[in-house]
Amino acid sequence: MKEDNKRPKQKLKTGEKLLFIVAGAFVVLGVITFGIMQYVMATSDKPLFEQHTHFDLSKLGEKGSQIYRHQACSECHRAMSEGTNMGNSLDGIGSRYGAAWIEKFLTHPEETYNHRTMDHGKKPKQAYYVAELPKEDIHALAVFLSELKSDQGSSSSPVPPKGESPFIDQMVKTWAPDEWKHKYTDIRDKLPQKTGEAE
Ligand code: HEC
Repeated sequence: MKEDNKRPKQKLKTGEKLLFIVAGAFVVLGVITFGIMQYVMATSDKPLFEQHTHFDLSKLGEKGSQIYRHQACSECHRAMSEGTNMGNSLDGIGSRYGAAWIEKFLTHPEETYNHRTMDHGKKPKQAYYVAELPKEDIHALAVFLSELKSDQGSSSSPVPPKGESPFIDQMVKTWAPDEWKHKYTDIRDKLPQKTGEAE
């Protein structure tokens, strides 16, 4: 358009204005929905996500949970909806490992994993202090962690969901070679099975 040339240079073109309006609308929308989400989270008594882990602490487990808090494990780990994601989540760990395995890991991390670790282990690794805690404290920690269970079928559980799953059936049919059917047993045929000792 010729007329455009006469206008002062600072003026935006229609397309540019439109672009700013659309981008601005996205920002405003983002701020509004974030506000709504925060409001819902603060006022709803239902959790935003379904909980698939649970715990029922024994006396010793309770003591372990206090040590867990005092020893700053949650600076790296997540458990009972608290902590960070620097290390792995420990919710549901008791459905994968028993107290004995956990105790062994806490005192001899690399030997238990059978390969190198990042934070647990000897100085100068950051979580070196864990293996140096008093024996009773490590034992209580292990008992506490072994009482953090996950529901069957949840992402932290070694056991698949209850009942028939057309999705899993289809996946097995598509991806498992025929010979596997003779070599391995389907874990679902072994249910209900004891968890906690699993490894
Ligand atoms: C500096 C970060 C850090 C701190 C502090 C820390 N951990 Fe860890 N933890 C890790 C990382 C990372 C791993 C994975 C193994 C590795 O590479 O060290 C791990 C692994 C574990 C595991 C094995 C989990 C699995 O599924 O294999 C347990 C159990 C555990 N930590 C318990 C604890 C306890 C109990 C404390 C506190 C006394 C603690 N950790 C403090 C970072 C940390």
